[in-house]
Amino acid sequence: MNDKIAALLNDQINKEFYSAYLYLDIANYYTANDLDGFANWYTIQAQEERDHALLFLKYMQNNNLDIKFQAIDKPDQTFESILSPLEVAAEHERYVTALINNIYHEAHQDKDYRTMKFLDWFVDEQMEEEENADKMISRYKLFGSDPKGLYSLDQEYAAR
Ligand code: FEO
Repeated sequence: MNDKIAALLNDQINKEFYSAYLYLDIANYYTANDLDGFANWYTIQAQEERDHALLFLKYMQNNNLDIKFQAIDKPDQTFESILSPLEVAAEHERYVTALINNIYHEAHQDKDYRTMKFLDWFVDEQMEEEENADKMISRYKLFGSDPKGLYSLDQEYAAR
């Protein structure tokens, strides 16, 4: 495999673990604000991100690639309101989509069909993640300013 693609895959392990860290930070914010349902949603989201990291790790292992773990950045966002983490999450998912697209682009350039096929699942997953993140914003804007609406949203996210 092309070194550049291998390096991007290696970086993506780190980015996915960072995503997990970011979502745990968001879960902490909601826990501190007694929105346990929102916290639950992001705790589960963090588990999914860890699973994404492990998929990249496994793919690299299966291809006998050299894996070098890097330090995971600390999430340093400050959340100003209940809405703010939802916006941070949506923006972050768009960033991750761009990272996946970039690896896909490099794989395509290199006729690395195996990596393209591996990434197909992530291309679909990113569409779903962006859609969910955007929906959480629009639903918060629709219902979140009313205490009963916010309570219902929190109950719904508790059941994820
Ligand atoms: Fe691993 Fe939310 O993308």
